[in-house]
Order: sequence, then C-alpha cells, then structure tokens
Amino acid sequence: MDIDKKLLNLATRKDEARSGGGENKINKQHDKGRYTARERVGMLLDEGSFEEFDIFKTHRCTDFGMERSKPYTDGVITGYGTVNGRLVFIFSQDFTIFGGSLSKAYSEKICKIMDMAANTGAPVIGLNDSGGARIQEGVDALAGYTDIFLKNVLYSGVVPQISLILGPCAGGAVYSPAITDFVMMTNKKSYMFLTGPKVVKKVTAEDVTIEQLGGASVHASISGVTHLVYDDEPALMEGVKELLSYLPQSFREDPPVLETGDPVDRADDELNYIIPDNPNKAYDVRDVIRRVTDNSRFFETQENFAKNIVTGFARLNGSSVGIVANQPEHLSGVIDNNASVKAARFVRFCDSFNIPLIIFEDVPGFMPGTKQEYGGIIRNGAKLLYAFAEATVPKITIILRKAYGGAYCVMSSKHLRGDIVLAWPTAEIAVMGPDGAAEIVYKKELEEEDGIDPGEKLDKLKGKYREMFANPYKAAEKGYIDDIIVPANTRIKLIKSLKMLSKKVDSNPEKKHGNIPL
Ligand code: HXC
Repeated sequence: MDIDKKLLNLATRKDEARSGGGENKINKQHDKGRYTARERVGMLLDEGSFEEFDIFKTHRCTDFGMERSKPYTDGVITGYGTVNGRLVFIFSQDFTIFGGSLSKAYSEKICKIMDMAANTGAPVIGLNDSGGARIQEGVDALAGYTDIFLKNVLYSGVVPQISLILGPCAGGAVYSPAITDFVMMTNKKSYMFLTGPKVVKKVTAEDVTIEQLGGASVHASISGVTHLVYDDEPALMEGVKELLSYLPQSFREDPPVLETGDPVDRADDELNYIIPDNPNKAYDVRDVIRRVTDNSRFFETQENFAKNIVTGFARLNGSSVGIVANQPEHLSGVIDNNASVKAARFVRFCDSFNIPLIIFEDVPGFMPGTKQEYGGIIRNGAKLLYAFAEATVPKITIILRKAYGGAYCVMSSKHLRGDIVLAWPTAEIAVMGPDGAAEIVYKKELEEEDGIDPGEKLDKLKGKYREMFANPYKAAEKGYIDDIIVPANTRIKLIKSLKMLSKKVDSNPEKKHGNIPL
C-alpha cells in the first residue's frame, strides 16, 4: 500500500469514527433538543484547537455478542484544546453510541486525559450524556467508574474540574460530577438521579417524573447539586467560558488578570444610602456587590439554592475574587444549614485555587428552631467556620450592617485570620440584636413598677442598647475591625487592600489533612 492509499485509509477510518452512532441516532439526539458530543466540543473549544486522543479505541467486551459491534471512540470523545487561548482537557460522552454508556476502555480514555490535566496543570471539563454503566460489561463498567471517581478525588484541589450535565446522568455515575468543583445543567434537557422514577415507585410507592426527581431546577433550588443552570447548550457553553475566566489553570498558579477598564478610584455615593434607615428592612446585597465590582459584573453560583447567602465570582481591578455575602432580602440573611454548606464549599474552592475572598456581612445570626437543630446546624455551621478559618488566601470582610453573635465570629472575622475587616458606619456588632438583648440586660428595669407603659419602656431600652452596642465603635476600639469607612469608597478600599495582600504568605500547621465536620 503506498502512502496515498494509507492516507486515504486513515481519513476514511477517522470519518467513520467521527460519524458517531450514525445518522439515525444523531437525528434522534437532535430531535430531543440536544447536540452531539462532537458538536459540543466544537461549541466549547476555540476553533481548530481540539486534538483528539484514542479515536480508534474500542471496548473489549465479548458477552452478549458485543464483539460484533465495536465502534471507534467507544462512545466518548477525549482530548485537549483551548478556551480563549487557555489549555483545557475535555471528555464528551456520545449518546449515539451505546447510549453513551461507560465501559472499561471508555473509562481508560477519561482517566488518561485526567492524568494529563493534572500533570500539565489544566482544568478538566466533562460533558455528561450517558445511560450510565454499560450493562453488558458487568463489573468492568463499575471498575471503570470507580477508577474515574478515584482520579476525581485525587485531583480535587489540583486542577479545576467542571461537569456539564447535558442529558441523562443516572445511578452511581452521578458521583463523578458530584466530586467535581462545579456542576452545570441545561433546563428540561438534563437530569441527575441515583435511582430512576420506576425504581422509586417500586421502593417507596412514590409517583414522580424524571423532571421532579432530578431535573435542573430541582438540583438548582432544592438539593444544591448543581451550581449553574442554562436554558440551552450554547448559553451553557458561554457560561463555562466565563467561569473559566475567573479560575487559574491549577493550584500552582494565580487566576488570570483581565483588563476591565473600570477605574480603580471609582467611588459610588449611592452606597452611602443603600442601607435602609429601619434596621429590620431588607435590601438586595447584590446591589452592593454590583456597585463595587468591575463593570458591575457578578457571576453568581447556586443562585437559587440557600438564597440567604450569596456566592460567586467577580473582578476588582481585573483580578478574580470570590464573593460571599449574607442576603438580607432572603430570611433576613440568617445562616441556616444549606447556607452554611453552600458557602463553606465555595470558600474551600477559592482557597484551593488562590482566589481571594471578599465577604459582605449583614447577618442577624444562625437560624434558631428545631428544624435547623435537627438538621444539624451545629455541624453544618461548623463547616463554614472551619472553611473560613483554614483558608489562607487574602480575606477581606466588609461589615455592612448586622454582625451578631456566632455569625460575627464565623463570617471571616479578624479572629479567624480575616486579613482586613472594615465596617460601614451602619454596622451593628454585638452578641445579640436589641430585640433579644434588651429584655435580658434590662430585666430589672423592665420589672420595676414605675408607672411607665411596659411597651414604651422596652422600646426606650432597646434604643439605649442600640446606641451603646449596635454600632461599630466598640469593635473598632478593640482593633477587631481595622477601620470604619465611608460606604462610597468601598471599591477603592477593597482594591487597595487586595494589592497590599497580593504577596500574602500564610499556612496551616503541618498535618496529613484536617477533619472538617462533614
Ligand atoms: C448499555 C445502554 C445503556 C446502558 C442506554 N443504552 N443505557 N446500553 N448500557 N446502561 C442503550 C440503549 O439500549 C439504546 O440502545 C441506546 O443506548 C439509547 O437508549 P434509549 O433507551 O433508546 O434512549 P432513551 O429512550 O433516551 O433513554 C435513555 C435512558 C435509558 C433513560 C438513559 O436508556 C435508560 O434508562 N438506560 C439505563 C439507565 C441505567 O439504569 N443505567 C445503569 C445505571 S447504574 P439501542 O441499540 O437500542 O439504540 C450505574 C451504575 C454506576 O450507572 C455505578 C458506578 C459506581
């Protein structure tokens, strides 16, 4: 065979491999409103940047007549490419071949690119669309999954790992995305669950649809499994690109700095008036965030889960920051079980990947009551405390209004190695709010028979308490906050603080690993 024939043979084989499960299956995929595995790779990566590995790899299964059907790729496309010029490793499950189900050979392809990503220091992006473990492979498929789980765990904190759920993701297969840093889903087109509706019906007699059991909206608002939801795949791919823009390639690097054009000395007078006069009135903390960040951009994560705490990424003078903020607009910004877990995981992600943390604080305390206590607010609240305490990235806290009780301690206070703690003049820092405290500290005065209306007396004493304790000056006198600032200057102060902290060195005592109260 001369070289021309060999080249033709290669091209024919590659064309065959690139045709996936064939026209019919591709049409079926499109009919479901989903893209093919290759179209997805094309949407996400820079044009012409994709280099594929193992295109000719096939499964080795001989049961159920599988030896008669050995399509190239074996149902997963793997390789590397770039997103906005930065290296990423990618796998894309091909539903048109055996329903994207996973064999041992298929898992080897995924593990190969995960190893390369860790060795070269680049993110791994997994595009999931699969019927799960390939039933014909038996235990080999389970072994393959477990090999991937192990790599997910070993490379957690080494390189960012992002899971896109673009179709079914069922059974134990969900545990690989669950270990990764971010899970992104498409609305009404993707779902994740351990056991499908039929098994649920058998075991629990519960009638439930796929969407109710594991659709994107359920995981975005109730379970907290997913971080970002998009209406369609092209929008989701744009979301991935923006997310990556905030992240470093690996823990060895700092996040990229982008020129945003927003002046570093931009003050915002509206911030002086953003806190309502009535301390019990709500406001949207995201208005504060957007007035401070470069070009008002805030990339929010888990927007609909535990809305009482807000997490997400933004830029200050072009540098990437992770933001954690209590949200007075939802449950008065109280910290409950879900809020603790949501914020703790976000803080740990930022700390793993050298992303400084900015904390906006307005929190009346931890949520009281049996529901929260039985749900484990003690161990869950401890997660957030632990995460802030162990984080060694620059940590800057701005106390906007309430910083009461244990929540004051937890929200990256000075005592947890918060590098800079600034307060607005509207800050209230005390063990308890006036409503709870006045009846305790002024018990004697309240019990005195002096002819004054008890309600009127209580209001007066609350006012007295507020004047004495519900302000930032007591904390400032003790050096627990570094300064009380004019709210309009918050952006300027944050950018200066970040610059000052940019070469910060901090570490934790030598150990194998800590034991976060999971
Ligand atoms: C082998 C599979 C498969 C699987 C789908 N297919 N899942 N082949 N192993 N797990 C094949 C189908 O036989 C079919 O082949 C093709 O893929 C497309 O599947 P359809 O059923 O026609 O597609 P659709 O109607 O869209 O339904 C998709 C689906 C359904 C909901 C995902 O296929 C399904 O329920 N599959 C089984 C899901 C499952 O129980 N997986 C195991 C989970 S347990 P043909 O040739 O007809 O086109 C698990 C354990 C992991 O994953 C444990 C890790 C520790």
